[in-house]
Amino acid sequence: MRFDILSVLPELLESPLNHSIMKRAQNKGLLEVHTYNLRDYTTDKHRQVDDYPFGGGAGMVMKCEPIAACMDELLAERSYDMVIYTSPDGVTLDQHLCNRLSMMDNVMILCGHYKGVDERIRETYITMEVSIGDYVLSGGELAAAVIVDSVGRLLPGVLNDESSALSDSFQDDLLAPPVFTRPAEWREKKVPDVLLSGHEKNIDTWRYEQSIERTKKRRPDLYEKYLKG
Ligand code: ADE
Repeated sequence: MRFDILSVLPELLESPLNHSIMKRAQNKGLLEVHTYNLRDYTTDKHRQVDDYPFGGGAGMVMKCEPIAACMDELLAERSYDMVIYTSPDGVTLDQHLCNRLSMMDNVMILCGHYKGVDERIRETYITMEVSIGDYVLSGGELAAAVIVDSVGRLLPGVLNDESSALSDSFQDDLLAPPVFTRPAEWREKKVPDVLLSGHEKNIDTWRYEQSIERTKKRRPDLYEKYLKG
């Protein structure tokens, strides 16, 4: 799968996407992430990517021309399954959307900045606006990194044990059960006996019950979704 990410601050994407699982996914050739600095697509000597909003008001607006130049170049090279704009106005990213995106080949992401992007770019190029939650970031790069990470880890072969993505929280609208490692007793707190029993079926049943309990208690909204299937 290939992600092309357009940004005014591509440096912000470097660290989250070049370590650990994302690095391995790229080294294995399962994931490609290309970043583009929108300043490289400007034609003026100040390399200006933003301008004052028509009608006045605070903040700057991302200009059409550099974004269009970059997107046109990319669209001439390949077709994209999705052109995402990261914005708090978008649909909220959840595991279902991550699963859907993980089945795509080419996804472009435009990172929002300043007061946002000229509306005409949204109308012309963007096929989905995605928010990572009801709060405002200072730029869309961290949101883009969240999208790439949460989608990239679902690609077949990226995680060592493929079943581990299937047992994630949310994968079936349930939260994950508690986990423990050695020592079996720590500060007088014991690991549940069943996990030490070696009895696989009982362990599975215990984990499933814990998932249900945890979801009911912490995320009743998710639990409703789970019941509806
Ligand atoms: N840009 C600013 N805030 C954002 C958010 N919550 N999600 C996606 N992009 C954003």
